Amino acid sequence: MEEKRYLTFALTKGRLASKTLSLLEEIGITCEEMKDKDSRKLIFVNEELKLKFFLAKGPDVPTYVEYGAADIGVVGKDELLEEGRRVYEVLDLGFGKCRMCVCGPAKAKKLLQHHEMIRVASKYPVIAKDYFYNKKHQTVDIIKLNGSVELGPIVGLSDVIVDIVETGSTLRENGLEVLEEICPLSARMIVNRVSMQMENQRIKEIIVKLRTRLAQQNGV
Ligand code: PRP
Repeated sequence: MEEKRYLTFALTKGRLASKTLSLLEEIGITCEEMKDKDSRKLIFVNEELKLKFFLAKGPDVPTYVEYGAADIGVVGKDELLEEGRRVYEVLDLGFGKCRMCVCGPAKAKKLLQHHEMIRVASKYPVIAKDYFYNKKHQTVDIIKLNGSVELGPIVGLSDVIVDIVETGSTLRENGLEVLEEICPLSARMIVNRVSMQMENQRIKEIIVKLRTRLAQQNGV
């Protein structure tokens, strides 16, 4: 019989990875090697199931999957929207829930109502542009930042920000608030388009098992 090829997973480093690994473990997919926190290895293998796993930064996960360096990825919907990669989005994993919002000081609310030319700071310029240009038809100046975006309105770089809000505590502690909600976000499973054809049976089996497990968790 022909030797099975490895299926490779690209997981988003950090909280999403640990939640993904717990969920995969619930459907019998484990990777003991990955549990060793001191390991500096980048690729982890489950020889028995012929699976490989690696961790990557969120924005890079859709890239690995689009180019086929990984067959399957787990990544936040925010990165999928921002990166616009050609991959199949097959499952909402239900964790990593948060919202993409326009935030700022309360006084900035009126700037959004009167379609004024404002400055918007964000780690997500594509999402910000789509929201302001295509949905609100408001011309804005978008400034790309790489983190701690809440600083934007505080130090006078921008009027508002477009950013992820989870608990809302970063906003509260800095005197900012949600002004408008753009969309809900959560972790998604994505699949390379060629892998979906070539390894259809194995990938479908994983999707079905995950979907069943998620439905059980939700009491459906
Ligand atoms: C994210 C996001 C907000 C914060 C929201 O930042 O950009 O700053 O979390 O979470 P909260 O609503 O629970 O306070 P992250 O921690 O990823 O770091 P960053 O600011 O460097 O992007």
